[in-house]
Amino acid sequence: MKLNDEYKVKIESFDMNGLGVCHLDNKVVFVENAMEGEEAIIEITSIHSKYIFSKAKKILKKSEHRILDLEKTNELSGEADLIHVDYETELKIKENKVKNTIKTKSNYKLNPIIKSDNPYNYRNKVMVPFGEIKEDDERDVIYGFYAKKSHNIIPIENDILTNEISSQILYLIQRYLELFNVSIYNETTQKGIFREVMIRNTINNDFMVVLVTTVNHDFQRLIEMLTLEFKEIKSIYLNINSKNTNVVLSDDFRLLYGTPTIKENILGLDFEVYPASFMQVNHNQCEKLYSEALRMADLKNDMNVIDAYCGIGSIRLNIAKNVNHVYGIEIVEDAITNANNNKKINNIENATFICGPCEKEIKKLANLNNIDIVFFDPPRKGCDIEFLNTIIEMKIPSIIYISCNVATLARDIKILEENGYELKEVTPADLFSKTSHVESISLLVRKDTK
Ligand SMILES: C[S@@+](CC[C@H](N)C(=O)[O-])C[C@H]1O[C@@H](n2cnc3c(N)ncnc32)[C@H](O)[C@@H]1O
Repeated sequence: MKLNDEYKVKIESFDMNGLGVCHLDNKVVFVENAMEGEEAIIEITSIHSKYIFSKAKKILKKSEHRILDLEKTNELSGEADLIHVDYETELKIKENKVKNTIKTKSNYKLNPIIKSDNPYNYRNKVMVPFGEIKEDDERDVIYGFYAKKSHNIIPIENDILTNEISSQILYLIQRYLELFNVSIYNETTQKGIFREVMIRNTINNDFMVVLVTTVNHDFQRLIEMLTLEFKEIKSIYLNINSKNTNVVLSDDFRLLYGTPTIKENILGLDFEVYPASFMQVNHNQCEKLYSEALRMADLKNDMNVIDAYCGIGSIRLNIAKNVNHVYGIEIVEDAITNANNNKKINNIENATFICGPCEKEIKKLANLNNIDIVFFDPPRKGCDIEFLNTIIEMKIPSIIYISCNVATLARDIKILEENGYELKEVTPADLFSKTSHVESISLLVRKDTK
């Protein structure tokens, strides 16, 4: 067997991320864009000692759960790898991913996944790279998303995950860049001005636009065009990032128009959001996620709570309504500034915010022996071991672990179980529909408490 060889196969099952699985030469073969039960011609794309990667070239027998033909799937799956799978099948893939990744001796309850009412156009934040295609004297400005494992932009105008108004804003920016001949940054030559656009929107349809460039540039005309066309735009920033890096945003934000923040409402509370602050990308699902976390926590008004990796405080202020005191820890300074403002605008006094890395800052709370519950909501890499060790030493009775990466969640659960905690229940939640990412909420309790 060698690269680019083609085989006719029957797809036996889905893997954890929704890839098709079959066997050749006693090796497991993962097949991109093929579904359980399908027969397909596949092409080998990489060979490893125990497994092989391939992609579907032709579907010979189609699954009844396929909702997009192979050609369209290949075009769009870079961004949404479950785009071809019907929603019920997608939810099963995600439930199985959570079930099969968490290896535990605890007899825990796995609740059904929290479904989305709207699996399309749900994203309230997009980061969109721009590029250009030059032919003779002509040039076309393009924007879209990166093809899998590359920095080639797949042009796309009406993306299925992006808010419709955001798509229209992107189109207008593209027209402006073409008309006013603004150069586009080229990663290879490291020349050009315009890099990316970030757009955020709130449930009330307020929009924030961030133009990412390599140098300062006069965007007055663009601002006029955007604000004339879209009354929803409340804030426009320039972000200057001259480094040749994969990190899109630099720290250099300059407000060009409107207000420095836009206001989001989550479970009845208002939150001011700066461009660099973290906000869940799927508002409706975020509310369901927080409600489930609050249900598991079963908060009482004499409780003291820590909210680690708290962002702009969106869970914490909802916790604060129900408890004696809540301490939030977050590394991004702007998010803490937001959190403090959010505390004021919601008239909440029983919340303290600490800015810094959780692994260090938690030590400052280690002498508090009255903490009842700690919430974790770390980024994809999960919790730092130093942080977990302090939590274990503090003997905090309950942990609510919100996770966007089940692999690091499983790793951290194992550490906690080896150190006195028991997993009680897990609820998967679909926050990233049409992609194989899955969010989850877990409850762990110390075996030696009550
Ligand atoms: C998944 S977000 C959760 C934010 C918040 N709980 C929410 O639901 O909006 C993770 C947050 O952790 C923050 N973060 C990342 N590493 C951190 C660290 N070492 N210490 C503290 N916060 C960190 C990020 O800035 C981000 O706000």
